[in-house]
Amino acid sequence: MPEAPPDDRAALHVENVDVTYGRALSALRSVSLTVPPGGVVALLGANGAGKTTLLRAVSGTLRLHRGAITAGSIRYGSTALDGRDPVRAVRAGVVQVPEGRRVFAALTVEENLRTGGLGLGRRRPAQVQEARDRVFTLFPRLAERPRQAAGLLSGGEQQMLAIGRALMAAPRLLLLDEPSLGLAPLMVDRIAEVVREINTQGTAVLLVEQNAGMALSLADHAHVLEVGETRLAGPAAELARTDAVRRLYLGESADGQEAA
Ligand SMILES: Nc1ncnc2c1ncn2[C@@H]1O[C@H](COP(=O)(O)OP(=O)(O)O)[C@@H](O)[C@H]1O
Ligand SMILES: [Mg+2]
Repeated sequence: MPEAPPDDRAALHVENVDVTYGRALSALRSVSLTVPPGGVVALLGANGAGKTTLLRAVSGTLRLHRGAITAGSIRYGSTALDGRDPVRAVRAGVVQVPEGRRVFAALTVEENLRTGGLGLGRRRPAQVQEARDRVFTLFPRLAERPRQAAGLLSGGEQQMLAIGRALMAAPRLLLLDEPSLGLAPLMVDRIAEVVREINTQGTAVLLVEQNAGMALSLADHAHVLEVGETRLAGPAAELARTDAVRRLYLGESADGQEAA
């Protein structure tokens, strides 16, 4: 893949962002985070910490959930993102794979993929074909069954389809929300390989995970949220060595032994 020109290699900057749902529910307070071009950043935290909220703020889908950015700023390269405009985010190259591997169950694999990249306006057939080839190379299981109804795929295959659909928009930054949730260990390994491969091909990744071991093995940097605030942030390898992360997220007890 040719080296992208300098202005094409955008970074994501989230600066001191507050998010509120409805009139009062504060979900994020003064959260800052950067994803460099081509980087992988892991976003960890317990249920309800605000991980999905942060992805929604970046992808412009916050408003669909009655949420709003009430302070701070988000920008991707030169594009300001305000949490209210998913098309703007997709056009800037930022695409989210929502949690819960949502695919259109009644549509075929191929039809699901065709819904990816809507909102980008008219694209040349060659561009669409190229994106589809990339997805089918990455996911041979999908290539083998293009006309299968998505609802009949296994959980792992549906997650791959959800990721594949996002890749149809040729993102430069992929937002992944708990891709390993509920999948068998072998499938989790496969998803990790896929994320690494996507990143190797030049796409930056912001990876939300409860599987901290998996996420920290993939990420350069990691960020831990706790009830809407940053608890820890730093190089992934360093965070994996901190007591708090080992205890809370890597299943070890206070004395450093692995929990039973
Ligand atoms: N659409 C919504 N309306 C109101 N509150 C919400 C909504 N979505 C999430 N929340 C609340 O925001 C907080 C953060 O949620 P979320 O971002 O989903 O956390 P996580 O993804 O880390 O589990 C939680 O308290 C959750 O209940
Ligand atoms: Mg979530």
